[in-house]
Amino acid sequence: MTEKKDIRILAYESSCDETSTSVIKNGCEIESLIVATQIKSHQRFGGVVPEVASRHHIEVISQITKEALSEAKVTWNDIDAIAVTYGPGLVGALLIGVSAAKAASMATGIPLIGVDHIMGHIMAAQLEDKIEYPALALQVSGGHTELVLMHDPIHFEIIGDTRDDAAGEAYDKIGRVLGVNYPAGKTIDNWAHQGKDTFNFPRAMLEDDDYDFSFSGLKSAFINTCHHADQIGEKLDKYDLAASFQAAVVDVLSHKTIRAIKEFKPKTFVLGGGVAANKGLRERLEMEIAKLKDKPKVIIPPMKLCGDNAAMIGAAAYNLYQAGKFSSLDLNADPSLELPYADSVLN
Ligand code: KG4
Ligand code: ZN
Repeated sequence: MTEKKDIRILAYESSCDETSTSVIKNGCEIESLIVATQIKSHQRFGGVVPEVASRHHIEVISQITKEALSEAKVTWNDIDAIAVTYGPGLVGALLIGVSAAKAASMATGIPLIGVDHIMGHIMAAQLEDKIEYPALALQVSGGHTELVLMHDPIHFEIIGDTRDDAAGEAYDKIGRVLGVNYPAGKTIDNWAHQGKDTFNFPRAMLEDDDYDFSFSGLKSAFINTCHHADQIGEKLDKYDLAASFQAAVVDVLSHKTIRAIKEFKPKTFVLGGGVAANKGLRERLEMEIAKLKDKPKVIIPPMKLCGDNAAMIGAAAYNLYQAGKFSSLDLNADPSLELPYADSVLN
């Protein structure tokens, strides 16, 4: 009997402020992962400056391609596919990764696979444990807050979405009011653990019977509370503010997730995206799911795979490889890409 050949994918991620390359074996084993972060360059502007992001991506992408191969102890000859995030994200930033991946594919003849960034975040879980389908994902990042029903490894259906701000975006915006550097999520999370939920901020759409979210009302309530205190010269406790904000976010996210688990009965629940690093959210979801009678298996990726990275793109690309979903060399960046292959589920 011939031994099954290992499939190795070299993946690129450059959709926002991280340039990353990775070699992934068989969709689940990280042979190398390089992440070049630019956060320091953007901090003084209070958010990501698209032009600055693109320039940093260009500066490092060739070097970290070599590093990913050498750290994995492989050459181009060992690579079966080249994967790249082609959306959603900042168009200029995406284009650097897409151009690098296309150039490598053209020069080597290795097939190209375009990957949706959100599909990537969700598939970080596959690097941790085997996902059994149907599965449900709560995908929470700086740009997205979605509940995603996963019918199989590539056919996903969004069952709930944010109507306004994403959860991470709300963290970053209220962080600015508290004088916390961008991205603020981690610091607010740490502060929240040192305070109490004393402000009773609104929990929007909690009782609605859909799976959508809204965080802009919470953000405004938070900012108004701070401004009002400023005007009357009152000093508010930053730890209690953080704890109250986080309690409102976590309440809504966990309430809707548990309801979706009860309705759709997934075999696996997956948490993904930058906000998946939130300790409060991780603890609460684990606790609520443990109380259920029909518990799905829970996969929460390690912290280093919650933020943007190319390993998750390589994991998602493996599933597309298995399904024969390759891209042509005219692949373009799509800043507002919606999950591909979703239609075939909905129709
Ligand atoms: O997924 P990601 O790295 O980039 C996007 O695709 O958006 O997510 C970044 C977001 C930022 O808004 C950041 O503040 C948030 O994730 N974040 C957190 C935590 N760590 C990062 N939010 C809450 N708690 C955290 N511990
Ligand atoms: Zn992301």
